Amino acid sequence: MNITSAEFISSYADVQKCPPPDKPEFAFIGRSNVGKSSLINMVTNHKGLAKISTRPGKTQTINHFLINKEWYLVDLPGYGYANVSKSIRQGFGKIIDGYVMKRENLSCLFILIDCRLEPQKIDLSFINWVGGKGVPIGIIFTKSDKLSRNELAKNVKRFEKTLLEDWEELPPVFISSAEKKSGKDELLVFIKDTLTRLKNQ
Ligand code: GTP
Ligand code: MG
Repeated sequence: MNITSAEFISSYADVQKCPPPDKPEFAFIGRSNVGKSSLINMVTNHKGLAKISTRPGKTQTINHFLINKEWYLVDLPGYGYANVSKSIRQGFGKIIDGYVMKRENLSCLFILIDCRLEPQKIDLSFINWVGGKGVPIGIIFTKSDKLSRNELAKNVKRFEKTLLEDWEELPPVFISSAEKKSGKDELLVFIKDTLTRLKNQ
């Protein structure tokens, strides 16, 4: 799928104020600084579309981007950033809870994982929480440019093995680098297939 248009629509801290749920929606979530906003820019080929920062906690709201006038791509705040107020740190945060549980047009929630790290408790508990609620998920390992091919394969396998301790099957898994601009095609094929499936339902 080619991305022919990508427009910023809105930025809200409340799921009730998001655009009407009248189009399929795909969202990126994960720990602060994992590369959600960078991946939005890489996938859409628009450098400054989503705001990125070396400082964790940059994205604090739900940001909707309309792609090809047909579906939404959503940038969400990160979870697990210690340096925020206690109320934000409770659970995964009110914004994330509200969005994940109430956004009825959410076709796939992509959970981004830093490929360099060993499986993190917070990611595993997030996956178990949303998976348990029946939210459709995908996993994207980010920053693959930071590892050798062997290290990357080893870490991905280790994460998958850990997931299989709790789940019978794995969700779709993707590997990306915003730096090297890799992983985009696989992700867009998956999104296109999902859109086709939804249309034929
Ligand atoms: P929050 O909005 O704070 O939750 O962060 P985020 O997940 O949106 O991360 P963001 O895209 O702002 O990127 C965080 C930092 O990681 C920035 O310094 C990016 O340049 C860097 N980064 C993101 N993706 C990659 C990648 O694929 N490779 C490398 N090497 N760096 C990356
Ligand atoms: Mg961000």
